[in-house]
Amino acid sequence: MIVLGIETTCDETAASVVESGRRILSNVVASQRVHASYGGVFPELASRRHIEILIPLIDEALKRASVTREELDVIAVAYGPGLMGSLLVGLNTAKSLSLAWNIPFVGVNHVEAHLYAAMMGQPSSVLLPALGVVLSGGHTFLTEISALGSYRLLGTTVDDAIGEAFDKTAVLLGLSYPGGADIEKLSLSGNPQKYPFSSGKVKRSPLDFSFSGLKTAVLYQVNRQKKEFGSLSEEERCDIAASFQHTAFWDVIRKSLLAASTFACKAIFLGGGVAQNQYLQNLFAKEAPHLPLFFPPKELCSDNAAMIAGLGYHKFVSHRSGSPFSLEAAPRISFH
Ligand code: KG4
Ligand code: ZN
Repeated sequence: MIVLGIETTCDETAASVVESGRRILSNVVASQRVHASYGGVFPELASRRHIEILIPLIDEALKRASVTREELDVIAVAYGPGLMGSLLVGLNTAKSLSLAWNIPFVGVNHVEAHLYAAMMGQPSSVLLPALGVVLSGGHTFLTEISALGSYRLLGTTVDDAIGEAFDKTAVLLGLSYPGGADIEKLSLSGNPQKYPFSSGKVKRSPLDFSFSGLKTAVLYQVNRQKKEFGSLSEEERCDIAASFQHTAFWDVIRKSLLAASTFACKAIFLGGGVAQNQYLQNLFAKEAPHLPLFFPPKELCSDNAAMIAGLGYHKFVSHRSGSPFSLEAAPRISFH
């Protein structure tokens, strides 16, 4: 079965062709650079850009896959969560193509797809129950996965998503948006133990996250440094980045292992743009040698349409039908 995936939840426009939920025939992603000067995603500009490039991008994905539209069986589209305007572009395009080409479309949850990305390359019987850890620019979730499509939420953030904390910290260190990857680079030359920042605790919810305090601690440190020395030296920037990164990931790992201890967890699947961070992957492997860890390849960590097509295949097969045309864009859905 050949599925065309469409992803437009935020500032990446993406299209992909995937066979039987696993074999990626093409995976085309266009990241919108226009937002860098605003220090964050400008929603109106994001949806306008999706409108401009989605159709040519779908053509490109079909071309790279050497697949004609007559060979497509299903169209999968991320219908939420995300920015309303952006979601509407992807969903309405999927509905229109579904009508025009007379093939079903299926709506997929973007966050669930981030987790599926870690399972996509694995043998067909994945280790379950497992812990799912989503670390992205908009989402931070710990969830028990008992089967594909069956989840129990264990923890989430009460304020910023982890990627958001990386992006805001990056701005404080003079990096441009989105700055997660640059924080990782700066940290390579920094001392992660230099500043003992503390991670956020949520009263009576040991598995929930709070990153706003950590971000403020970085702000205070930057200001202190600037007041004392007039500017932030390169060495200081690296040390602050490394200490921030270490604190944020130590918190994620500690809470993930605590969450895993609450059920008969057999493996941990991680997904989302932040999960491509090599420091996180190494630290996690060191701290959790007893549990198999599955990270998606880099190109499937950040937003992409291959994970949407892959999960869409399973949704279509398990429901034996597509989604109804009444399906609406859902900016705030959860996935359990
Ligand atoms: O999954 P994603 O592409 O979009 C959302 O669904 O939100 O994640 C984007 C996030 C951004 O916050 C970006 O700064 C962060 O992933 N990111 C990283 C790294 N690469 C991207 N964060 C930490 N380390 C990285 N290497
Ligand atoms: Zn995402």
